Amino acid sequence: MSIEKAYNIWANQYDTNENRTRDLDKKCTIETLSNFDFKHVLELGCGTGKNTEWLLNKADRIIGLDFSQEMLNKAQEKISDKRVQFKKADLTKNWEVENNFADLITSSLTLEHIEHLDHIFSQANRKLKKNGLFFISELHSFKQYAGSKARYETENGTEELEVYVHNISDYIINAKNNGFQLIELKEWFDNNAENEIPRLISFVFKK
Ligand SMILES: C[S@@+](CC[C@H](N)C(=O)[O-])C[C@H]1O[C@@H](n2cnc3c(N)ncnc32)[C@H](O)[C@@H]1O
Repeated sequence: MSIEKAYNIWANQYDTNENRTRDLDKKCTIETLSNFDFKHVLELGCGTGKNTEWLLNKADRIIGLDFSQEMLNKAQEKISDKRVQFKKADLTKNWEVENNFADLITSSLTLEHIEHLDHIFSQANRKLKKNGLFFISELHSFKQYAGSKARYETENGTEELEVYVHNISDYIINAKNNGFQLIELKEWFDNNAENEIPRLISFVFKK
């Protein structure tokens, strides 16, 4: 099943099913981005708007991109704020957003579905203002090596989505090749158990 179709089906239960990755991402996003100021945000793979709601505490304008219409419908049901625009878009194509629009780009739990990170960093560079920030929160590659991937339960069993493994160095090399500098890297553990495999990794890059 295509990734887009799988999310169209997942949308109905994405916000409510048990999902430690989703919940830890929310904590990671809030804890990390509380330390930065931003006004114009471009959210990649905004999904049901889980993080959009919190970003609105600080932002004047948010554009959320996602290729799943059903995920976007959920986001639109929850958030009807003039400052937010949700747009259906495939991130593997050119992003139809004004260049230099954002002072913050965020991407949570989305890049595991994108094969070529170079394209993402290249587009992010165009859409970010000088000194703008690119925040990424992803399933940690150590978890990916151990077989974890985006999945959900259906009446017919587990639906596993198509994913790509990105090593930590893949993020850093692709970022550097596209004019970004790493300013923060953190690993996030279930129940703060730092002797276990971290669930998430987060980066803050600066253009
Ligand atoms: C795990 S969800 C994360 C949603 C949200 N960021 C969150 O943290 O709850 C991943 C999202 O990425 C979107 N996505 C995956 N590949 C995409 C692509 N190529 N273009 C646009 N959206 C994509 C999916 O539709 C889905 O909404």
